[in-house]
Amino acid sequence: MGAHAIVQGSLNIDMVMTGRRLPARGESILGASFATFPGGKGANQAVQLARLGMETFMIGRVGADVYGDQLIASLQAAGVRTDAILRDKEHGTGKGWVFIDEAGDNYIIVIPEANMEWQVEDLAPMTELCAGADLFLCQLETPVPIVDRALRQAKAAGLLTALNPAPAADLPADLFQHVDLLVLNQTEAAFYAGRPAQDARQAAETAAELRERGCGAVVLTLGERGAVACDADSAYACDAYAVPAVDVTAAGDSFCAGLAYAMVKGQDLNSALRFACACGALTVTRAGAQPSLPTLAEVRAFMQEKGRAYGGQDHI
Ligand code: RIB
Repeated sequence: MGAHAIVQGSLNIDMVMTGRRLPARGESILGASFATFPGGKGANQAVQLARLGMETFMIGRVGADVYGDQLIASLQAAGVRTDAILRDKEHGTGKGWVFIDEAGDNYIIVIPEANMEWQVEDLAPMTELCAGADLFLCQLETPVPIVDRALRQAKAAGLLTALNPAPAADLPADLFQHVDLLVLNQTEAAFYAGRPAQDARQAAETAAELRERGCGAVVLTLGERGAVACDADSAYACDAYAVPAVDVTAAGDSFCAGLAYAMVKGQDLNSALRFACACGALTVTRAGAQPSLPTLAEVRAFMQEKGRAYGGQDHI
């Protein structure tokens, strides 16, 4: 098997309502629209890697229901290899209940269903998939012991390992030693660091502090204020691209996958950060999770239009 990525993670069908604002406690309000979209952090990240042109295999669980069919079809349409996705006959496909307000900000409750029914045996495809793979990417919408085990296996096999520790959860202290790239947002960083990072300076301090737990590099996204990162050599910051926000859903997934892709393609962390910010910015301009994820051509054109190089190499 040639160079490729493995994504271990969740698949959710997103039930998306839009409206001016969230209702207050005890209040009923009229919304504007309802739609369903293929989503789930794992599946979104797999689709983003595939749209960037990387051969991508996803390991996951969905129910034996119509939503599972839709999610697998969406992955396949993007070119993701789905042979290792299991159909759970007892539990339904995971659901993301998403509310988008008029600023494009989202509020999400995930009902994991099949995503939380992983057994250790479900990781069996990892052995074959790790051979010749470059990248392993995971999140926390599946059980932590499974993610922990998969990360260790991928790291031992020599892959670049990336963890998006979302939603925030208690993790074994030594898990971070198996993570080359830790990519998280401000809410998650506040959970793991035990204190909020209010501005870019505090975010940079938090990233450095989290890196001391054993990760190779830490990248902290700051929404419309961009992102900060640190590795063993230095600290970096990247402004966000100014774009009209339609729906921020999956922008973090797009960012994670874009960052990991750029690193695997040989970019340094600073250049990869810029590429990832461009991926996330394009995602924000479109509705829904997977339909909003950009192709490599779109990211290149966007970066050129905005006047920023993406490292200057042709191979990305
Ligand atoms: O990161 C966005 C995703 O989070 C949504 O697609 C939703 O399903 C949740 O997993």
